[in-house]
Parts: sequence; structure tokens; C-alpha cells
Amino acid sequence: STILYNDQFVPRKEGKVDIEDRGYQFGDGIYEVFRVYHGKVFLMEWHLDRLQRSIKELYLTLPYPIQQIEKNIYALIEKNSLIEGTVYLQITRGATSRNHLFPTNTNPVLIAYTTHLKREEAVVKDGIKVSLLDDIRWLRCDIKTLNLLGNVLNKEKAHQEGSSEAIQHRGDIVTEGCTSNVFIVKEGVLITHQADHFILNGITRMYVLELATKLGIKIEERQYTINECLQADEVFITSTGAEVTPVIQIKDHLINQGKPGPITKQLFSEFENEIK
Ligand code: PDD
Repeated sequence: STILYNDQFVPRKEGKVDIEDRGYQFGDGIYEVFRVYHGKVFLMEWHLDRLQRSIKELYLTLPYPIQQIEKNIYALIEKNSLIEGTVYLQITRGATSRNHLFPTNTNPVLIAYTTHLKREEAVVKDGIKVSLLDDIRWLRCDIKTLNLLGNVLNKEKAHQEGSSEAIQHRGDIVTEGCTSNVFIVKEGVLITHQADHFILNGITRMYVLELATKLGIKIEERQYTINECLQADEVFITSTGAEVTPVIQIKDHLINQGKPGPITKQLFSEFENEIK
């Protein structure tokens, strides 16, 4: 397949990383995962906005204008005949001799590639089991950085416990999943952690909040406890990959008797209408 390397389209095997690239040594960079449905990027502008925010928060610079990045993403999709799948894009601070300090002349490195991916109907309909784990990440989870070790360790631990995701918490407060945002429903009210430094403000999270508003569902963006989560009528996660996925079990505790709840289903079917 073809990848994007800075502003060049090159074969996959020519995408080489310098051994002193700061993304590789320090995780000093940011990324985005875009979803492609029917050959089109879903919520492109939202992802590009978040990309620019991540860049700004890390004092990085774009290698070239965002409009050109957008064009190149579409060109890449075209070159790889991608109909259903994802585009992974990352920008690192580039390569210089190893030093924690920012290099004076930054040459950011941008790479992007595509992956074919089919929607997982069964998982989305039946729901998933999740673990409940201590959120061990740093305090700027709002930036979509390459530093994902906290997420990686918890995702692996969840997998070893037979779960497909972990709901993470700081003390008593539920933050988010390892690769998703977490929503709960209690007495018809949709509750999710507010967008602050403790969570990544997911594009799917924002989109689902917009759908919920449209449907007249009451929303509370606030902190909620582990207990509220376990006692919730419904729980679901959102992400670019998982879309709206019901959570039917947290550790050995069933949610809604192990079945996806009505508001989750309503939001999921509304979401599906928009992407079809
Ligand atoms: N992960 N929170 C975290 C920690 C995430 O890693 C993700 C997404 C989300 C959901 O964000 P969005 O709705 O924008 O996908 C929330 C991506 C998909 C990944 O790392 O692969």
C-alpha cells in the first residue's frame, strides 16, 4: 500500500523512522485516527480541529498547512482504494541528537497510512464485558499524544481478564476507557465525564452528545463515581472504532441484566442512520 510521508506518497516499505526521532524516543508527538465510511472521512473537520489543538498544546508546528494535510488524506484514501476503514496520522517533533529539550530547528515528521476495517455488527449489538482499573496515566489525557503506555498496560490487563476494554478511574471517579469514552444512563439522564484534562474529548463522544441533544435526552457532563457506574441503568462506550458499544458487564457485575439498554440502542441506531 501507499503511505504519506511528510508531503510525499511512497510505498509502505519506504516509510523509515530515524532512530533518533523524538516520537520514537520520547513519545513526543500526536496522532489522530479517522474513520472512513463509503470512501469518505466521517467528521473530518472535528478531527482536524482536535489535531490542531494537540499540536498547539505540545508547542509543535504543522509541517505544512492543514488544508494540504486534508487534501493529502483524501489522496491517500483514493490511492489505496479505501472504502471502509481508518486513516492513522501522526506528527512527531522530528529527529535530532537525543536531548530532552526541544530542538531549535524543528522539522516535524508526518506519516499517515490506511487500514481496511469492517464494522463489527455483533459486538455493537450484543455489548461487551469490561474491567475496572486504576487510571495510571499522566494529567494531560486531553491531548492525543503518542505516549500511550498507561492505556496500553490497562488494555492488556483487561484483555488478560477476559474483557475487551477497561473502565478507568482516579480514586472514586470514573474517567474513561483505555481507548474510548464512557457514558452511563440513570433514570433517563445521560451522564459522561466533562471534557477536562482527565479525559480525551472523543470525537464520537461529542457526536453522541449532539445526537442526544437532538433526541431530547437530558445530558449531564460531570464527574461520576464507580458506584454510580455500577448502579447505572445502562453503560456504553464510544470511539472511532467502537462507535456506540453497549457495556453489559463490569467485572462480574451485570448492567441491565446483561442486555443493551433502550437509550444506548436509540443512540446507536441514530448513529447508524448518520453513517449509512
Ligand atoms: N482512541 N479516549 C481515549 C483514551 C482514546 O484513545 C480514544 C480513541 C477515545 C475516543 O476518541 P474518538 O471518539 O475520537 O475516537 C477516548 C483511538 C481510536 C485509538 O487510539 O486508536
